[in-house]
Amino acid sequence: MHIGTTLTNYIIETQRQIQGATGEFTGLLNDIAVACKKISGLVDKGDLIGVLGSAGSENVQGETQKKLDVITNEVFIEALAHNGHVAGLASEEMDEIYQLPADAPRGHYLVLFDPLDGSSNIDVNVSVGTIFSIIKAPEGVTRPTPEDFLKPGARQCAAGYCLYGPSTMMVFATPQRGVQMFTLDKDFGEFLLTHEDVKIPADTSEFAINASNSRFWEEPVKRYVDECLAGKEGPRGKDFNMRWIASMVAEVHRILTRGGVFMYPVDEKMKAQNQGGKLRLMYEANPMSLIIEQAGGTSTTGRERILDMVPQDVHQRVPVILGSRNEVDRIVSYHAN
Ligand code: AHG
Ligand code: MN
Ligand code: MN
Repeated sequence: MHIGTTLTNYIIETQRQIQGATGEFTGLLNDIAVACKKISGLVDKGDLIGVLGSAGSENVQGETQKKLDVITNEVFIEALAHNGHVAGLASEEMDEIYQLPADAPRGHYLVLFDPLDGSSNIDVNVSVGTIFSIIKAPEGVTRPTPEDFLKPGARQCAAGYCLYGPSTMMVFATPQRGVQMFTLDKDFGEFLLTHEDVKIPADTSEFAINASNSRFWEEPVKRYVDECLAGKEGPRGKDFNMRWIASMVAEVHRILTRGGVFMYPVDEKMKAQNQGGKLRLMYEANPMSLIIEQAGGTSTTGRERILDMVPQDVHQRVPVILGSRNEVDRIVSYHAN
């Protein structure tokens, strides 16, 4: 498809190529695009409309919610709950599965989402994003249970994110069709295709990790980072650069654009608190893993492919190591030693 085509046209065209497609999936992606455009508007206006700062509440993971965490969650629900494309929703900001109103038409999909990823950055005007994962609902289900959502990431029908940065960009992946990027033209309110079939370079000399946790890291992570920091004189024989934005969406976007490695590994501190990782499997790690793999990269916990994990809980946390293939393979081999 040509660069500049609208997201709406892109999904209608793609639907045409799929035999038996009913338009429901097209409708769902359109609902998500509407939600993301609204969120983009709120993020843009920020302080002008009083949406920054804390909400004074906590989510299920005990994290302080920002006002915008709560508002964007509502925007997402409002955009998806009434159009007959989904049978239920799950979100980082809701303890329980969201059940549709009794009179709302039911669709064939379930959506899991992180309405505002990187929300600790919102008050300092640094990029944030929305992440979503789409799976099939069990046939005929009208009140889905958590078990209905607990499918390995490999079974996602599609996944994507919207990055609210200097530009607002929608990026999505479907299992056989790779990764496409769209940029929001705010003058006429449409996402336009700007990058088709994005591929991540297999090699890189840039990594991202929160180094303040280094004293808790496991041996393989310590070894990898130490070798990078040793630069030209070390075993890697080249200098590395480091970035940490603290918004996974912005981090993944950088990796899709120029390669790199992103790590939020499990560490001794998390283990002592019985936590499997920092990032959430169902609405952060799985969707990002589908995108990364479709772009030719690798996504792993260090010990297993994230998309193969059998989820135990909607809010489960996992270690995440993703990005340029050769580099991530090296980190996996350090874990195997
Ligand atoms: P969220 O704002 O949805 O809770 O997610 C933030 C995540 C992720 O986007 C980012 O990579 C990481 O947490 C940042 O963690 P640190 O604060 O430890 O840097
Ligand atoms: Mn998040
Ligand atoms: Mn969030």
